[in-house]
Amino acid sequence: MRNKILVTGGLGFIGSHTVVELITAGYEVVIVDDLSNAQLFILENIKKITGVLPVFYKVNVQEKGQLLHVFEKEKNINAVIHFAAFKAVGESVALPLKYFKNNLFSLITLLECMEIHQVNSIVFSSSATVYGEPDILPVNESAPFKPALSAYGSTKQVGEEILAKVSSAGKLNSISLRYFNPAGAHESLLLGELPSGLPNNLMPIITQVAAGKIQQLTVYGNDYNTPDGTCMRDYIHVTDLAIAHVKSCERLLNNMQENKFEVFNIGTGNGVSVMEIITAFEKYNSVKVNFTISQRRHGDAESIFADASLANEKLKWKVVRSLEEMVTSAWKWQQNLSNVNNFTM
Ligand code: WQD
Repeated sequence: MRNKILVTGGLGFIGSHTVVELITAGYEVVIVDDLSNAQLFILENIKKITGVLPVFYKVNVQEKGQLLHVFEKEKNINAVIHFAAFKAVGESVALPLKYFKNNLFSLITLLECMEIHQVNSIVFSSSATVYGEPDILPVNESAPFKPALSAYGSTKQVGEEILAKVSSAGKLNSISLRYFNPAGAHESLLLGELPSGLPNNLMPIITQVAAGKIQQLTVYGNDYNTPDGTCMRDYIHVTDLAIAHVKSCERLLNNMQENKFEVFNIGTGNGVSVMEIITAFEKYNSVKVNFTISQRRHGDAESIFADASLANEKLKWKVVRSLEEMVTSAWKWQQNLSNVNNFTM
């Protein structure tokens, strides 16, 4: 009997890549997504890649009745991977209530439904933003939370607190994965980042500037205390990140956890600056990126990159894909977008 995984937000950027890796690893997958930040053609593309069309429910995870119906229909769910959340940092500063309500009510509703149906394993999508501006780099999982710089970051901190307390009080076993900066696209070029409206993150902005859809990239400050003055981040290929979720399911379903609530950094351990990303993108794609330097962006950490040794050891997971693969796959995905189901981005 194959293990069945319910993936909330499973048609999103990281969710869809994770669904492909789950199917490839032999899992049965059920997707719940409200399509608020995803496109339905991604479901067909998952089938084109894997040969399997996952069961899909168009459901907002906050709708308890609809979510309970999914659990009732889909007997024997063995674990849940929870991606469904709003994730635009800047928007969350302007609309904190939208973020607190959606991200926290979704998690709480999901946990209530899991408890009713005795589904006791969850992998949670968290973020390096829980660290704020860390005192020590690379940052490891024992680093303290800093006051969140955005409502988005707060929802990840509170989400982890909820999981820790619910896990210690009952039957739940949970793993929280703290993502650094996901980038790139699936090797098939059938999956990739699909920001609705203007992108927030650096890589899709760069690809849209290179494609002429955005006139110019604004580099937010070059007066930081870094080698070239621009901020440093830990960019990780989305497929490497997706595979970390499969490894987490294996750890949960094989009862290998050492604690009922575990946290892992999922990053490469390499700090890369904004200018280094631009240079790599131009070099490996032989295209120019039109950019200008502006003032710093409020809330940006100067530098953050992961100590991922705990995930390497406990999840038996390691990074495989390079910065070159990130920038080339991101560019090819952008170029391919107009051919994929006539989608224009
Ligand atoms: C990266 C770097 C910017 C845009 C956020 C979330 C994190 C995760 C990834 C969801 C920074 C610079 C950016 C631009 C720029 N989100 N930049 N010009 O803020 O590191 O992390 O996205 O999973 O949880 O916090 O990502 O891509 O916005 O910025 O100079 O137009 O690029 O200053 O140094 P960030 P980002």
